[in-house]
Amino acid sequence: MAKKQNVGYLSVRESRRISRENRKITKEFEKRRKRRNVPESEYLTTMKDPNNAVEFDDLHTYFYTDAGTVKAVDGVTFEVPIGKTVGVVGESGCGKSVTSLSLMQLLQRPQGQVAAGEIRLNLGDKAYDVTKAPDEVLQKIRGNAVSMIFQEPMTALNPVFKIGDQIEEVLELHNEEKLTESKMKERTIELLEMVGIANSEGVYKMYPHELSGGMRQRVVIAMALACNPRIIIADEPTTALDVTIQAQILDLLRQLKDRINSSIMFITHDLGVIAEMADFVVVMYAGRIVEKGTADDIFHHPAHPYTIGLMASKPVVGKKIDKLYSIPGKVPNPINMPDYCYFKDRCEMCVDKCSGEYPCEISLSETHKVSCYRYYDMKEETK
Ligand SMILES: Nc1ncnc2c1ncn2[C@@H]1O[C@H](COP(=O)(O)OP(=O)(O)OP(=O)(O)O)[C@@H](O)[C@H]1O
Ligand SMILES: [Mg+2]
Repeated sequence: MAKKQNVGYLSVRESRRISRENRKITKEFEKRRKRRNVPESEYLTTMKDPNNAVEFDDLHTYFYTDAGTVKAVDGVTFEVPIGKTVGVVGESGCGKSVTSLSLMQLLQRPQGQVAAGEIRLNLGDKAYDVTKAPDEVLQKIRGNAVSMIFQEPMTALNPVFKIGDQIEEVLELHNEEKLTESKMKERTIELLEMVGIANSEGVYKMYPHELSGGMRQRVVIAMALACNPRIIIADEPTTALDVTIQAQILDLLRQLKDRINSSIMFITHDLGVIAEMADFVVVMYAGRIVEKGTADDIFHHPAHPYTIGLMASKPVVGKKIDKLYSIPGKVPNPINMPDYCYFKDRCEMCVDKCSGEYPCEISLSETHKVSCYRYYDMKEETK
C-alpha cells in the first residue's frame, strides 16, 4: 500500500462519513422491520433436515457503529439437532453471544442487524426464518419455542417481585390457553420442584435477594422451561456460580433436556463444561467457525491450531506442568479483519499457503469439519 495509514485512528471527517453511511444502512433495515401485516410466506421456510431444531445458515450479524462496521458474526453455519446439546466455544469476543442473540432477535438495535444469512427454526408443523419474521411473530417465538438462560441470574430476575409472581408472569404471557390462578400456582410449584428446589412453597413467596446464587439460577431455569421450549440457549449459565453448584446445575440441565426432549445450545469458554455437556461442538474464532464436529472429534482429534491451543491451555487433573500453555497474541480487531486466515498472526503451525485468502471448510469426516490450510492436501474441498 502506497498510502501510510494511521492504524486505529479515525479523523473527524472519516468518522462522520462512516456514521452517515451506517445510519443510512440501519435505517433501511429498520424500515423493513417496521412494516405491518408481513405475509407469512415471507418468513416461512423449510428445514434442510427435519431432525434439526435450528439451522444457522451463513449467518452474518453486523453492528453498524460510528467507528465502523463490526463483523461480530461473519458467515456461521451449523445446526442444532432435536434432543441434542451443541456446545459453542471460543474466547471472549468471538461472537458466541451475538450468534445466540441473533436467534432470539434480541440484538442491540438499530446498530445490530442480521446482514445476510438465514436462521431456520423448526416449529414442528412448519419452519420460520427468524431473521425475516416480524416483531409480533418473534414475540410469540421467544419464550415459547426458544428460551434463554443468562449468565447472571440476578439480572434476569426482577428484584422487586416475588419468585412465584415472576414465574406466573411467564406462564401467563406465553401460554395459549388461559390458566386459572390456582392452576397457575400449581404449575409454578411443579416447575420449582422440577428444578430441584425442595422448599418450593416457601420459595414461591420469596424475593430474589433471599435466595442463593445457585437457587436463583434454578429459578431462571424454571422460567426458561415454563413453556416447554424446543430449544434452550444457555449463555454461560454457570460462570457466576462456584464449582460445586456449577456441577449441580449442569446435572440438572442434562436431566431436564432429556425429560422435555428439547435441544440445548450451550455457550461457554470453559472446555471442561463442554466436555460434560455437549454432543456436538462448534469452535468459533473472530466471528467465524474454525472447526466443528462431535464432542469426540473435537476432544480426541482436534485439528485446527486454535482448537489445539485451547486444549493445551486447559489444566488436566494429574498432569504436572510448570506453566499452562497460552495462545500468543490477541483476537484481531473485528472492524478491520485481515483478508487471510484470521488466526494466522497467532498461529504456530502455519504452512506456505496461509497468506492466501481465508481458508474454506474441509471435511475430515462425515461430522468433522475444519477451516485450515494444513488439511488442504489431505482432503478435497467441500465448498
Ligand atoms: N452492541 C454492540 N455494538 C458493537 N459491537 C458489539 C456489540 N455487541 C457485541 N459487539 C461486538 O461483537 C463481537 C462479539 O461479541 P460477543 O458478545 O458475541 O462475544 P462472546 O463470544 O459472547 O464473548 P464473551 O465470551 O465475552 O461473552 C465483539 O467484538 C463485540 O465487541
Ligand atoms: Mg458472551
